[in-house]
Amino acid sequence: MLHNMRIVSSDPVDTRILDQAAALLVEGFKNNNPLAWPDMASARMEVHEAMTPGNICRFALNDEDVVLGWAGAISQYSGHVWELHLLVVAPHQQRRGIGRALVHDLEARVRELGGMTILLGTDDEAGLTTLSGIDLYDRTWEHIANIRNLGKHPYEFYQKLGFRIVGVVPDANGLGKPDILMAKPVMTNQK
Ligand SMILES: CC(C)(COP(=O)(O)OP(=O)(O)OC[C@H]1O[C@@H](n2cnc3c(N)ncnc32)[C@H](O)[C@@H]1OP(=O)(O)O)[C@@H](O)C(=O)NCCC(=O)NCCS
Repeated sequence: MLHNMRIVSSDPVDTRILDQAAALLVEGFKNNNPLAWPDMASARMEVHEAMTPGNICRFALNDEDVVLGWAGAISQYSGHVWELHLLVVAPHQQRRGIGRALVHDLEARVRELGGMTILLGTDDEAGLTTLSGIDLYDRTWEHIANIRNLGKHPYEFYQKLGFRIVGVVPDANGLGKPDILMAKPVMTNQK
């Protein structure tokens, strides 16, 4: 983790943080999912929703209060499970440990709240893994067991942090474009 970074909540909502977090959504997803947040208006709405009390929303800031990345999670299954709904790191700050630090911080918050599992869905809309473009109803678990990264799909980032693939949603984003479901228990040792 960068030595001058801290991870904080924004309560009450700081509009400067909100705006930077929205800009990161537009910038961070423009390559692999450009339709997700095509403009600042849609991204601001998403950040605002992520900051709703009861959700977990955490921001990695440098010592000049610049947002380097952020994560948002939503309670499910009566709080036993928290869905990691959003995670993004500024493109020029990636591969420096910020994503890992945000996920570890989220795990600590979930543990404090008595949750057991972090769940997430990581879409493959751009043919970045071997799970795209095939019939996932046929030999589902064989395909999952033999998954390979064809681009820079983030499922491998999550695997490095101790997440396991627990399923797929076939055709979640159109024919042959699945969502990959991953989970991690928060009660065991971190990776
Ligand atoms: C995915 C993302 C959050 C990772 O953040 P990051 O700060 O770059 O990740 P870290 O530096 O903490 O990486 C931790 C480890 O995962 C690896 N890693 C990071 N991204 C990876 C990828 N796409 N594929 C494979 N490995 C990856 C790193 O090399 C590092 O490995 P190491 O421990 O062996 O050195 C970031 O790339 C991002 O914001 N991407 C765009 C938005 C996105 O895809 N979000 C996730 C949607 S589900």
